Amino acid sequence: MTIKPLRKAVFPVAGLGTRFLPATKSMPKEMLTVVDKPLIQYAVEEGAGGGIEQIIFVTGRGKVRSRIISTSPTSSRATMRARGKSLTVLDGIRQKPGSPVYVRQQEPLGLGHAVWCARDIVGDEPFAVLLPDELMVGKPGFMKQMVEAYNKVGGNVIGALEVADSETDKYGIISPGATDGRLTEVTALIEKPAKGTSPSNLMIPGRYILQPEVMRILEGQEKGAGGEIQLTDAMAQLIGNQPFHGFTFDGQRYDCGDKAGYIQANLALALARDDIGPVVRAFAKTLLG
Ligand code: UTP
Repeated sequence: MTIKPLRKAVFPVAGLGTRFLPATKSMPKEMLTVVDKPLIQYAVEEGAGGGIEQIIFVTGRGKVRSRIISTSPTSSRATMRARGKSLTVLDGIRQKPGSPVYVRQQEPLGLGHAVWCARDIVGDEPFAVLLPDELMVGKPGFMKQMVEAYNKVGGNVIGALEVADSETDKYGIISPGATDGRLTEVTALIEKPAKGTSPSNLMIPGRYILQPEVMRILEGQEKGAGGEIQLTDAMAQLIGNQPFHGFTFDGQRYDCGDKAGYIQANLALALARDDIGPVVRAFAKTLLG
């Protein structure tokens, strides 16, 4: 089996972000900042750490592309440049000339549909999908860890994280086969299984390395859970035809599409900082009595 190197990554940012209203009325969810950096920038940096060269953003109607990519008004750019500050979320990321690429998801029909919107740019290559509202903190980053695993086993490699029994009906869930270190064979995938029917506690976080054949499956994909075109349902059809593994990340996941998860991310990352950590820690202690 030849393992094609991973070069491309899709960042779906076309969701409505209803759980984060009213903030998302005026601002894409992916531009919410954790401490001092937008979520999209964490995700792009994580992808770059995994060797991604080509970035593909799937943006939605009404989501102004420049809000995601160009984060500073023109008037302040010269000053920022003079001070050696980053101008956009892509600064410092080595990309081929002509990148990044933007594709439009006309209607938010689901994650599977958003990924399918990138099919022409992905072409016949393996590709990663990173959901920027999930912030992954680890050393090395999630994508780098996952790419190392992919380079050994090839095929499809998706994240696999343990959650409590009471949580399994909220996520895409892995039915596990044999386990080898951090890699688990995937025998089936179920999107949001009804309570009491989940085959395991392994949820799929928003990190995927997929083979291009999934695009052909998404082409004819019917709506699934929640009336959305689900990536999980399309991925499930690859099992048996191609290697398919779950990869357990050594690090922390914060669901920043959820208000509590977002606050937890801010607190954890602030406490870990040398500059503001001590002040925040002292304040938190006072607040909690
Ligand atoms: P979510 O399930 O968090 O949905 O999407 P959402 O619409 O963004 O947020 P809520 O649930 O209304 O609060 C997971 C990822 O998939 C993208 C989102 O942008 C996010 O990165 N997505 C989802 C799309 O790009 N298009 C879609 O149609 C749905």
